[in-house]
Amino acid sequence: MADVKITWLGHSAFLLEAEKKVLIDPFISGNPAAPCSSEELDPDIIAVTHGHSDHLGDTIEIGARTGCRIISIHEVANYIKSKGVFAEGMNKGGTINVEGITFTMTDAIHSSSIDASGFSFDGGCPAGFVISIGGHRIYHAGDTAVFGDMRLIGELYEPELALLPIGSRFTMGIKEAIKAVELIRPETVIPMHYNTFDVIKQDPEKFRRAVEAKVNTKVVIMTPGESIEL
Ligand code: NI
Ligand code: MN
Repeated sequence: MADVKITWLGHSAFLLEAEKKVLIDPFISGNPAAPCSSEELDPDIIAVTHGHSDHLGDTIEIGARTGCRIISIHEVANYIKSKGVFAEGMNKGGTINVEGITFTMTDAIHSSSIDASGFSFDGGCPAGFVISIGGHRIYHAGDTAVFGDMRLIGELYEPELALLPIGSRFTMGIKEAIKAVELIRPETVIPMHYNTFDVIKQDPEKFRRAVEAKVNTKVVIMTPGESIEL
């Protein structure tokens, strides 16, 4: 039996299953690549990287229905709480232990407003997470540009698996994501945040070939709904 099962739900949404079920950035409704409906999801914990609707997604609905724990940066947690759903805030550099699974919040170079009904709420800063689950360490970069301190994330937390955006326009593209892999040096990379919409169209095979020619990291290209095990 695997220690942790990782399922890509399209875009930046992943389900990690070990002793508990962790859902990251559950953008399901409105996600043309989603392989399931949000009603089918029953996580123990949701982690949200930032306030944009393609990441906060169905968090409030799922939280209200299941009573799961929700963690995010302070400002996004406050917004979720303002909707009557409990959420726990944290901030960059800090670690929270939620039912035996640890989440360390990392930097991300991006923005983070929460757009609702014609208003924009302060979503604080965007973030990523290093998650320790089932004896493995997984880095979900959130939406980000490449930045030099990804090397520090690699050195400090030694993630075995990195989930990196490659779609460009709103995040790193392939060129930058290759550099990110060189900085982080994980054993395995799964590309995300591409091909959900035409504006973030990319060829993940191009990313795979370039990474595997440069470093000793395996690139796993997933289709939404597919799972791998660590
Ligand atoms: Ni974003
Ligand atoms: Mn995004």
